[in-house]
Parts: sequence; C-alpha cells; structure tokens
Amino acid sequence: MPERAVDVEGVVVRFGSVTALAGIDLRVRTGEVVAVVGHSGAGKTTLLSAMAGIVLPDAGTITVLGQPIDGLRSASSAGVAVVPQGNGLAAVLSAHENVLMPLLARAVEPGAAAARATEALDAVGLGEIHAHLVEELSGGQQQRVAVARGLALASPVLLADEPTSELDHASRAVVLTLLRARAEAGAAVVMTTHDPEAAEAADQVLHLDDGELVPG
Ligand SMILES: Nc1ncnc2c1ncn2[C@@H]1O[C@H](COP(=O)(O)OP(=O)(O)OP(=O)(O)O)[C@@H](O)[C@H]1O
Ligand SMILES: [Mg+2]
Repeated sequence: MPERAVDVEGVVVRFGSVTALAGIDLRVRTGEVVAVVGHSGAGKTTLLSAMAGIVLPDAGTITVLGQPIDGLRSASSAGVAVVPQGNGLAAVLSAHENVLMPLLARAVEPGAAAARATEALDAVGLGEIHAHLVEELSGGQQQRVAVARGLALASPVLLADEPTSELDHASRAVVLTLLRARAEAGAAVVMTTHDPEAAEAADQVLHLDDGELVPG
C-alpha cells in the first residue's frame, strides 16, 4: 500500500477579505503525481504554499509524512521541496550555483552536491549552460533551472507550481517525464498547471474554483 504523503484537512486561507482556500481536503500518496488545475486566482499557488509552510492556514491542518506543517522549517524537515511559480532563482548566480545552494543548505556534502546539481541540469537539457548567469537565460531555460533545483533535492514531496508554463513541447515532455520519475522513485508530486496535456499525465486531477475543490 502506498503511504500517505500529504494530508490536507479543512484548510482555509484568507488574505484580508479574500478567501483563497475555503476548506480544502485532499490526500496525496507516495508514488503519485497529482495535478491541480483551475482558473487564475482559483487558489492553486496558495494551496502549494500552505503545503510548503509558506502560508499558514487560518483553519485546518496539513501533515506531511506524519509531521504537522506549521511553517517553513517543519515543511523542510518533513521533506518538502518547491518549484515556485516565477522560478525564484537568484539572477546573479549561475544556473549551477542556483541548483547547488539548496543542496548545501541541506548539508549535502559539497562534492556530492556539485555532482547532483550537474546531473539535474543535464537531465533538463541544460548541459551546455551550467556556468551561465540566470539573468542571461531565456524564460524557458530559467524555468528548467528551477525544475532542476527542485529535482536535485530528491525530496519525498515535490510541489511544482506551473513548472511547464514557459516551455515548448519537447521541454515540457522532458519535465513531465522527470516528475513522473520522481514519483516512481517514491516521491509524492503535486503540480499546478493550466496545461491540459500536463494534467492528463497525472494520476489524479484536482479542480480548484474560487478556493474550493469542485468535481472535474
Ligand atoms: N499574498 C497575498 N496577499 C493577498 N492576496 C493574495 C495573496 N496571494 C494570493 N492572494 C489572492 O488569493 C487568491 C488565490 O491566489 P493564487 O495565487 O493562489 O491563485 P492561482 O490559482 O495560483 O492563480 P494563477 O493561475 O494566476 O497562478 C487570489 O484572489 C489572489 O489575489
Ligand atoms: Mg499561481
């Protein structure tokens, strides 16, 4: 039986008068790829942010691999990695340095971290541009660096916020294959997307509408 990786129960998130999540229940198992779809402003990023401990719910609970999430520290120690919408890369560092930094922050030995960063960039097809500064890269290349950074962490839970939005067909297929491979290696993968093909490749598709999960 696959293990429960993420358990979201009754989660409500409000930003002032806006209710971004209106009481969400969902479970993600290890080995599963889940796609979260819905219109712009539906609450997709907020849901991932809550799972990642970036946003604290006003009500409800989130548990990752049995650990309650009450902030960034608990999410990180439970094994959550994030590919943020907009990439979140440091523009004046190289692609390789951007992938390397979170590995070093998690106390991966420097030699092993450098090798893992190289391997992850190779996997997303950026073998030639490891040393380029992020600000010199195209939007699609930057997005692939962000995906490589998330993958390199080899975390048991990977949350990817629109990881293929800037990609052409071939790169999108590569990224979806890599996300699937993480799931096959035992991770739980949650991806938001506006892309029907990406959603089709998932095991479970969750439809968000104005902060509520609705039947597809
Ligand atoms: N930090 C914030 N402060 C105030 N309101 C916010 C904040 N973050 C999100 N919101 C609001 O919460 C709602 C959900 O936003 P969210 O970013 O989760 O949507 P989304 O589904 O990810 O949209 P998109 O497809 O455009 O990325 C929106 O109404 C948005 O304006
Ligand atoms: Mg979003």
